[in-house]
Amino acid sequence: MSYEVQGVIARGKGEPVSLATVVVPDPGPGEAVVNVQACGVCHTDLHYREGGINDEFPFLLGHEAAGTVEAVGEGVTTVAPGDYVILNWRAVCGECRACLRGRPWYCFATHNARQKMTLADGTELSPALGIGAFVEKTLVAAGQCTKVDRAASPAVAGLLGCGVMAGLGAAINTGGVTRGDSVAVIGCGGVGDAAIMGASLAGARTIIAVDVDDRKLEWARGVGATHTVNSRATDPVEAIRELTGGHGADVVIDAVGRPETYKQAFYARDLAGTVVLVGVPTPEMTLELPLLDVFGRGGALKSSWYGDCLPSRDFPMLIDLYLQGRLGLDKFVSETIALDQVEEAFARMGRGEVLRSVVVL
Ligand SMILES: NC(=O)c1ccc[n+]([C@@H]2O[C@H](COP(=O)([O-])OP(=O)(O)OC[C@H]3O[C@@H](n4cnc5c(N)ncnc54)[C@H](O)[C@@H]3O)[C@@H](O)[C@H]2O)c1
Ligand SMILES: [Zn+2]
Ligand SMILES: [Zn+2]
Repeated sequence: MSYEVQGVIARGKGEPVSLATVVVPDPGPGEAVVNVQACGVCHTDLHYREGGINDEFPFLLGHEAAGTVEAVGEGVTTVAPGDYVILNWRAVCGECRACLRGRPWYCFATHNARQKMTLADGTELSPALGIGAFVEKTLVAAGQCTKVDRAASPAVAGLLGCGVMAGLGAAINTGGVTRGDSVAVIGCGGVGDAAIMGASLAGARTIIAVDVDDRKLEWARGVGATHTVNSRATDPVEAIRELTGGHGADVVIDAVGRPETYKQAFYARDLAGTVVLVGVPTPEMTLELPLLDVFGRGGALKSSWYGDCLPSRDFPMLIDLYLQGRLGLDKFVSETIALDQVEEAFARMGRGEVLRSVVVL
């Protein structure tokens, strides 16, 4: 048996996405089929459509999702039909060298569904980040389903499945932000604003938001920024140094992922400070830095995949903080849209009009 449902497909580099029939197989051993209830539009979906991640078209886009489990395959014990889950792209294997060293958030062999979803003509689809959730039902590995409290609406909960978790974790897990720190975040979209919220939750004293768009800077204040810098008008490195007693920030997070923003992050941090790269660069980008500065300034240059999160640990905890009114996750939902409006949502993202457009099914 299989399911025939509607999904959002990217067929070629730069081509507008379109709806098509997707064939979802019944779950095999270790797999689950999930009824997607909501899925946020992340910049990474746009990277896929633009061929910036790889060439494995056609893609089934969407990967920030929550929903209910429809069916599970043989041997699945962690979730059951009816469970309310957030989908994750880090179903840890427990067996790779990272897992065996007790660092499962770096797992090098995360699980995805073994079977393929296809178009009606049998063409195999590449699901974005091993999920593919701009679709009524999707097939994932059971470990990609993390149960959370169903009191959180799908539109909000789903955001933890990628961008918001990536940002919160870039600050808290990768950057190790703690009470009293100074933090700067370059790029205040969904990911950057989540990093600001994470820094605020962790007790940072100074949180400087940097963007090229004043509207984004205003929203950044709403999620916890104490200062804002428009880097089109003002040199962000000098501004960040000025706002931190002339020294630079303890942690600078690059949530854009371009050589120029990375250099700003590198020079805007204090001696022995930390740079966290969470924005995703494209294959042609290169970086040149004086090696003596890399050495002389000390500290740590880190990258953050998915905020170094452990879904089973972090998703239920963050949803509980949200339900207690201590984490304003609903601030990220700028609008809810239908499945056939993803292309318009990309345009709105490009014009800086939204933090997150969320497809609600
Ligand atoms: N590492 C991860 O696990 C992970 C997870 C999700 C998303 N991402 C990546 O994070 C990045 C941000 O994603 P998003 O969904 O927040 O995107 P977004 O488009 O919503 O936000 C990007 C923000 O950066 C700003 N910006 C653009 N160029 C800038 C510049 N030169 N200087 C300062 N600000 C600039 C834009 O105005 C916008 O506010 C993307 O590259 C995305 O692929 C990474
Ligand atoms: Zn592993
Ligand atoms: Zn994403």
